[in-house]
Amino acid sequence: MTDVGSLGRLIVLVALGGPVVAGNEIARRDVHSHANPEQVRVTHLALDLRVDFRLRQLRGTAILDVARQPGAAPDAPLVLDTKGLAISAVTSGSESGAGVPLEFRLGKLDPVLGVPLNISLPASVKRVKIEYQTSPEASALQWLDPGRTAGKRQPFLFTQSEAIHARTWIPLQDSPGVRITYDATIRVPPDMTALMSAEHGPGENGVFRFRMTRAIPSYLIALAVGDVAFRPLGPRSGVYAERPVVEGAAYEFAETEAMITQTEKRYGPYRWGRYDLLVLPPSFPFGGMENPMLTFATPTVIAGDRSLISLVAHELAHSWSGNLVSNATWSDFWLNEGFTVYIERRVVEDVFGPERAAMEAAEGFHHLVQGLKRLPTRDQILHIDLSGRDPDEGLTEIAYEKGALFLSALEQAFGRIRFDRFLRGYFDHFAFRSITTADFEAYLKKHLLSEDAEAAAKVDVRQWLYEPGLPPHHPEPKSPRFEAVAQAARDWVDGKVTAREIPTARWSTHEWLHFLTALPEKLSVEKLGELDAAFQLTERKNCEIADLWLLIAIRNRYHPADARVDSFLTTIGRRKYVMPLYGALIETPEGRRHAEELFARARAFYHPITADSVARLLAADHPK
Ligand code: BES
Ligand code: ZN
Repeated sequence: MTDVGSLGRLIVLVALGGPVVAGNEIARRDVHSHANPEQVRVTHLALDLRVDFRLRQLRGTAILDVARQPGAAPDAPLVLDTKGLAISAVTSGSESGAGVPLEFRLGKLDPVLGVPLNISLPASVKRVKIEYQTSPEASALQWLDPGRTAGKRQPFLFTQSEAIHARTWIPLQDSPGVRITYDATIRVPPDMTALMSAEHGPGENGVFRFRMTRAIPSYLIALAVGDVAFRPLGPRSGVYAERPVVEGAAYEFAETEAMITQTEKRYGPYRWGRYDLLVLPPSFPFGGMENPMLTFATPTVIAGDRSLISLVAHELAHSWSGNLVSNATWSDFWLNEGFTVYIERRVVEDVFGPERAAMEAAEGFHHLVQGLKRLPTRDQILHIDLSGRDPDEGLTEIAYEKGALFLSALEQAFGRIRFDRFLRGYFDHFAFRSITTADFEAYLKKHLLSEDAEAAAKVDVRQWLYEPGLPPHHPEPKSPRFEAVAQAARDWVDGKVTAREIPTARWSTHEWLHFLTALPEKLSVEKLGELDAAFQLTERKNCEIADLWLLIAIRNRYHPADARVDSFLTTIGRRKYVMPLYGALIETPEGRRHAEELFARARAFYHPITADSVARLLAADHPK
């Protein structure tokens, strides 16, 4: 969206809706969408897509139900978001195909937002049918050849729509402020299974049908196709994974049902029916993605000892914060992630005890402090201005950890009982709606701050929401277990004890992670060799531990870890792991050559989102 374009639309709004409505719309305007939901709003999507692995293409139809908004001009068109889609026909749509052609026009390409699809809409038309196909480069889609899967026999496809990738596989109003229901028919090759973020039957002859009856934002529409099996975890939960992985996954996620029950106790009923997980192949670019009814998860959480399953607590928490109450624009992303991290830690405390929750909070706070050192002030603000930028740039420690810390500050000021009651009421009040930071702020004032002036005086809400850095008197999460670990790290660094004398016997994964985090940036190759010999760090299967260790190894040119760096970076595509390792490699000229050589080999394996991030990193920092 160009400045002129959005200004033009605002002027139209002011003229039509009067200043009050327009004022509201201005605050809610999504600068990351070309769509015009304030005039014509999509309410339901019916997809019918064929999955073509040979052409790496989805093709078929999207039928959109549309509702002209009160006060909109009778000739207002329907404007949709698309990116890389080839549109072959647009008709006034009925499923029988009896519709009449509608005039349509593709607008100018914006490199971040894509291309607006402008469809003329006679006043009587309530349904629009679009015939289209995707591009093999669609950023939401990863197509994996059989060799890149665990099973090796069948290919695999999965989508990642958040933040604004849904428009690369479906023409729609790709804004989190627009909620739709959907149904879908997905046609796949024989012997393959299709899954979506929706209810579904068993599927027959390669045809799978889905139905999402609760209105969701477009970034939660998801599809995966592969050779997967299912194991139940509880009465309403289970896990899907490729066959060789599914037993391990069922063991790892056994505590899922307990987490669902506990989250319900605090924050109200789970309103989505089933909660299933899908374990993706290792190139999945994120840790997890909260697709409704079907969390997508990286296989790197399957550590064998259930040590990383707070990721499930996190994605599950999004069933309240994010999926039930959603950010209306990407500037409000902290409403999704900050709330979710806060709830995740409360549930971890309830289910796994306060020591584990304290460790996770302390680690999170440590990352926040690091983030504040790295990020420019404009990116330290919860209600972040992302205009003219890719919304993925808002994916930092600020939304997650500063957001969670703000809620902890409120909890401390008002006490758990009152704050829990407030949150419970918040989810009920805003259920199935998309809200802005201002909506939250108004609700907070009315239902919490106004109840107790003395407590309210302890939290400077405006500073938390709209200013960089941290307000004075912010909470400072601490963990006694971490303090012991940090002391052990200092003793070893100072040579007071040898590596074998460090009291690691009862350390959990979290303590190992903190130990590695607490080490100084620079360490000698001898010291690292001593640590490695004592604890086999280069060989660790736990990806969190391996990742931190390899980062230390690269920074200090500890070459015995080189082979693991190579295998790690060419078999795991999770962006959180991959990016820091490339970042460390390019610090030296020889490391840069190594990074470029690795990227050339790994690129085809990475998801487009990861590949794009690495490509930018390598290009941005290129020595002249
Ligand atoms: N919704 C996010 C992932 C996301 C955010 C994808 C923005 C694209 C754009 C998900 O809930 C998440 O936060 N995942 C984390 C793991 C979590 C345990 C902190 C991740 O992938 O690292
Ligand atoms: Zn999240």
